[in-house]
Amino acid sequence: MATDRRPENMERITTAELADAFIEEQLTALKQQIGDKKVLLALSGGVDSSVVAAMLIKAVDDQLVCVHVNHGLLRKGEPEQVIEVFRNQMKANLVYVDATDRFLDKLAGVTDPEQKRKIIGGEFIEVFAEEARKLDGIEFLAQGTIWPDILESENGIKAHHNAGGLPEDMKFELVEPVKILFKDEVRIVGERLGLPANMVYRQPFPGPGLGVRCPGAITRDRLEAVREADAILREEFAKNGLEGKVWQYFTVVPDFKSTGIKDGKRTFEWPCIIRAINTTDVMEVTVEHLSNELIDHLVKRITSEVHGINRVLFDYTPKPPATVEYE
Ligand code: XMP
Repeated sequence: MATDRRPENMERITTAELADAFIEEQLTALKQQIGDKKVLLALSGGVDSSVVAAMLIKAVDDQLVCVHVNHGLLRKGEPEQVIEVFRNQMKANLVYVDATDRFLDKLAGVTDPEQKRKIIGGEFIEVFAEEARKLDGIEFLAQGTIWPDILESENGIKAHHNAGGLPEDMKFELVEPVKILFKDEVRIVGERLGLPANMVYRQPFPGPGLGVRCPGAITRDRLEAVREADAILREEFAKNGLEGKVWQYFTVVPDFKSTGIKDGKRTFEWPCIIRAINTTDVMEVTVEHLSNELIDHLVKRITSEVHGINRVLFDYTPKPPATVEYE
């Protein structure tokens, strides 16, 4: 079934059986499309690109080359998980590029949010294109495009080219094996392909990553603080049964300091803001209210375990008037 559009009468994939049938059809179509040629995939570790990788590994095995660009703005443990799952467990051809210094050097001193996003997006394309040029005989580019991306681009809401913007001379035929699926269907398909649940059911994470949660000019120490605080928040949400229940939750470390006291000594450190929200369409968002016990526990852990934080704040603002992310 190498169809470009979701058939009007297609049954929503809600069961393992339906997912297995979809996978079977796609594997046949992928083998037919790709033959003995090579395919390139930018593997971020997000749900869509991970499911595409797992599918292509099954379909064409080592004809797939995955490139994981670590831009230094990923959450704690993410690059390690990509390497563990895809290189060690699934035996994929994985090129891992630690481009942290490149990104952070380019971002140094840049305070404008739009400029930051442009730098991150532009540098990503550059690193990916450089890696692609090192490889011989690539004819296909795989992308984790999903059905809402196509609908939104048709309606003029956003361009859907996930890895779009590659230089003019790099022309590949696209391979988009989940492009007729909705997100919930992609997750079920991913589970059936053997991906870990915490990869398939993870909360949304923006492309510019922790960069938009470190408002203003990003510095390595503040970035580390937001990464460590985020890891504690995720750990506590998982322990308290909130993982998979709350739509999105994260920390932000703004670029100002305030006075505090630790071990009888004056401190002058950043605050950490906690944001936890629920939504169905992301146009309107409500705040998840946490129990006092959990808030107290988070305050204690974050202020004592994260270097540079002496205060914890909770963001009670819905969307609108606030957006989900701070930049
Ligand atoms: P906002 O901040 O616009 O966020 O209310 C709505 C949802 O979109 C996510 N988001 C992004 N996702 N690239 C992405 O892939 C981005 O640049 C980006 N910016 C925001 C955000 O995390 C939230 O889920």
